[in-house]
Amino acid sequence: MILQKLDLLHRGKAKDVYRTEDDDLLCIHFRDDLTAGDGTRKGSEEGKGRAAGLISAYLFRYLSDHGIPTHQVEVMGPQDILVKSLSMVPVEVVVRQVAAGSLVKRLGLPAGQVLPRPLVEWYYKRDDLGDPLLAEEHVRLLHLLTDEEMAQIRSLALGIFRLLSQRFKEANLLLVDMKLEFGRHPKEGFLLADEVSPDTCRLWDEETGSSLDKDLFRQGKAPIVPAYREVLHRLGLEE
Ligand code: ADP
Ligand code: TMP
Ligand code: ASP
Repeated sequence: MILQKLDLLHRGKAKDVYRTEDDDLLCIHFRDDLTAGDGTRKGSEEGKGRAAGLISAYLFRYLSDHGIPTHQVEVMGPQDILVKSLSMVPVEVVVRQVAAGSLVKRLGLPAGQVLPRPLVEWYYKRDDLGDPLLAEEHVRLLHLLTDEEMAQIRSLALGIFRLLSQRFKEANLLLVDMKLEFGRHPKEGFLLADEVSPDTCRLWDEETGSSLDKDLFRQGKAPIVPAYREVLHRLGLEE
């Protein structure tokens, strides 16, 4: 399929979304920009968009080969992915296997503690409110998802986490936690959308426990691109 990207529809914090010649398809462009704390910390590193784009494209392909419905149609270039245009659910679905980040801050668990089973959390995708954690009652109150839809998305998210944990383990990486986004397709139901990359996951080296993900930026430790390239390398993608 040879499609051109047309006008810019949306400029997000790390990616641009373009219209294409096909109204049902969009082009997502991964930029070098990085933000944390709902955009309060901003940065940019050459090569970040390329590394995150390549990793995400590979993982979406991997998931789709293992039966997960995703938005990805085709890789147009290392930073440009052709995707199905979806009505996005304004909920960020976080799956955790190891205590880190906001779970440690909120509940006082020791960082690095392995959880008895994967934990699924819902966050309201609203930068103006600071993406708050949602109880399932809040998801119902805001009519974001029905109970049946929450069950469906939870099961998809846990399946995705299981598949990716195994794949990262082969690369000597521990998948600590990850953030997923889903969108509704008029004919195909919920599809995994957005991206899966070290921008949206915590990945720790299995031996040393060091971070190979955006936590380096969140903690003010630049540069991050060598870590992202190490993930690319360990997945057998390049270098
Ligand atoms: P944000 O500023 O919201 O953090 P990004 O910089 O990642 O976002 O920009 C990408 C935007 O594209 C996000 O708002 C995401 O929800 C949206 N998006 C991702 N996949 C799709 C899709 N398949 N269809 C429509 N929108 C999508
Ligand atoms: P947290 O511990 O900060 O809540 O993050 C949980 C996971 O979600 C972690 O892998 C990082 C990812 N994440 C995002 O991708 N985007 C976000 O806005 C936040 C807050 C977390
Ligand atoms: N959502 C946060 C921001 O964009 C990023 C993060 O911590 O992952 O500011």
